[in-house]
Amino acid sequence: MLLNKRILLIISGGVAAYKSLELIRRLREQGADVRVIMTRAACEFITPLSVSSLAGGKVSLDLFDPGDEGEMGHIELSRDADLLVVAPATAHIMARMAAGLCDDLATTCLLATDKPVLLAPAMNMRMWQHRATRRNLETLTGDGIAFVGPDEGDMACGEFGPGRMAEPDDILKAVIAHFSDPADRPLAGRRVLVTAGPTHEPIDPVRYIANRSSGKQGYAIAAAAARAGARTMLVTGPSAEPRPAGVEVAEVRTADEMHAACLARLPCDVAIMAAAVADWKVVRASAGKIKKTPGKGPPALKLEANADILQAVGGAGANRPGLVVGFAAETGRVVENARAKLKSKGCDWILANDVSPRAGTFGGQDNQVTLVSGDGVEPWPRLSKRAVAERLVARIAEHVSRQVSAAE
Ligand code: CTP
Repeated sequence: MLLNKRILLIISGGVAAYKSLELIRRLREQGADVRVIMTRAACEFITPLSVSSLAGGKVSLDLFDPGDEGEMGHIELSRDADLLVVAPATAHIMARMAAGLCDDLATTCLLATDKPVLLAPAMNMRMWQHRATRRNLETLTGDGIAFVGPDEGDMACGEFGPGRMAEPDDILKAVIAHFSDPADRPLAGRRVLVTAGPTHEPIDPVRYIANRSSGKQGYAIAAAAARAGARTMLVTGPSAEPRPAGVEVAEVRTADEMHAACLARLPCDVAIMAAAVADWKVVRASAGKIKKTPGKGPPALKLEANADILQAVGGAGANRPGLVVGFAAETGRVVENARAKLKSKGCDWILANDVSPRAGTFGGQDNQVTLVSGDGVEPWPRLSKRAVAERLVARIAEHVSRQVSAAE
């Protein structure tokens, strides 16, 4: 699938570098011509000899190697590639790229290139979550750099969290998707915002109010939108789902944070609000842990309403996305309630789902939805959440292409 595609793989210095050996093998199996640049730190983790053996000898190590610069210098290296892949991309190389630094062969090629760049970040979870890395991620995304991963899981440092490099197979899929036929990417050039998961509303520093949403449906939608070529931004409440490939993920905790993160991502072409946002939050959550006081009984929690994010996006005036899709979680009178929400929230489509325990969809693998729009009511069969996502994205792509034809 990658026959004659020229990939310049940059390996920077992280423990995950060992997975890049497998990536080289997988890329070459698909017919790609792989050239590799290893940073100095990468050579501390894996040897140039292993890389060279797998890449058919095409490894460059240092900017100032007269032999290498003579044979194929940094400009040729970046000009000669169809796609640059940085895997693993450490926090350090991301920071250098965001700042436009070019102090070695890898960063010089990255600055000198006009070719697309795909990054597979890998770092400790706290480094990934650090504000500086968040800022760099935003800068790089704004510069048009694509990302795959990182995943969440056990890390070499003994911690668990987001920051593990995407598996070679997922990086390979992202590379293949990059080269796929534009007809398979009907949302190319579109910006899609997706919300997912529950929100956690703090009671005190250790307790919160939440719901049973797993985030599965929203994550599947974000993955499908990214596969369809959209620049996809997923704003997610706490969820154990792995990060979908090629999606920009913003992790939030509360409804207020989700609200701000969504508004900050407008304008966009399509918004799909699949999050199970808490309707209420505790008025003035306690700064300290609420203690049991003998004879005093349980605390009375005073609640206030959270902002309705879907309504805010649906009524965002000039910033309103061209298509706003909401979900309606109902335990009865599903279609009637969905119709009412369509109106009250100012959205274009509602996917109504029955979340009563007998339907078994909330938190489960399957979903059964009814698409309610101005055009009517369309019940869909019971499908996996992935299939619901594919079908929704296909419908959105159709809608967007109809809008384009109408405008022409
Ligand atoms: N939603 C939102 N912000 C909120 C509440 C809901 O964006 N504060 C969105 C959800 O993401 C979903 C839609 O609104 O797309 C409907 O959510 P749902 O929980 O079904 O409805 P509610 O508005 O909460 O109404 P109710 O609980 O009364 O059914």
